Amino acid sequence: MKKIVGIVGNNSTESTNRKLLQYIQKHFQSKADIELIEIRDLPMFNKPSDGKLPSVILEMSEKIEAADGVIISTAEYDHSITSALTNALSWLSFNNFPFVDKPVMIIGASYGLLGASRAQQHLRAIMNAPVIRAMVMPGCEFMMGHSKEAFDEKGELVFPDKVQQLEAYFSDFLQFINVSELIQDRHASNVNEAMKFYREQFEK
Ligand SMILES: Cc1cc2nc3c(=O)[nH]c(=O)nc-3n(C[C@H](O)[C@H](O)[C@H](O)COP(=O)(O)O)c2cc1C
Repeated sequence: MKKIVGIVGNNSTESTNRKLLQYIQKHFQSKADIELIEIRDLPMFNKPSDGKLPSVILEMSEKIEAADGVIISTAEYDHSITSALTNALSWLSFNNFPFVDKPVMIIGASYGLLGASRAQQHLRAIMNAPVIRAMVMPGCEFMMGHSKEAFDEKGELVFPDKVQQLEAYFSDFLQFINVSELIQDRHASNVNEAMKFYREQFEK
């Protein structure tokens, strides 16, 4: 069974992105082992002068590294991702490179109609940065609009069309993970490339 990490892309207590990932975790429990990761208690990124990372970042990085794939559910603040998610990604690209060649599925939930679609586009570009270098699944844009009304008291997703779409995307993602496993020959050199870029750009 594939091991997947789900990153809750916001720090809000009542996050509908967390609810979406909890739903995914339960709904697909027979298909994948999904562990959710929270970013809400991370310290604010500030380039450590000695290059050493807080233990909470190292643990998170190791979990991502060990996973077969990662799902990031992003909220949308001012047409982009939240500062909490930017913060997490800065930590997870500073002297550690867990996302290199990692299959990633981007989804998003927002209260309005558009389901964090603009944040999802930004996140797609961010995950392509040379020190992150993830393999983001193409063609996937799961937009969970009206996210406040989307879940009942048991955490079930009440929009049948969204359940159907999610099932299709999740099935695609499992196949995408399989395909990505076939093209990992250059993984070690890709990690080295990311490290080299980090040293040239960030260690000055
Ligand atoms: C500062 C701020 C900015 C927001 N900007 C947007 C926005 O640009 N687009 C949008 O659809 N929703 C926006 N929202 C509402 C979000 O849809 C909602 O707060 C958030 O995405 C829901 O995520 P969560 O339930 O995981 O916290 C904004 C909310 C806040 C607090």
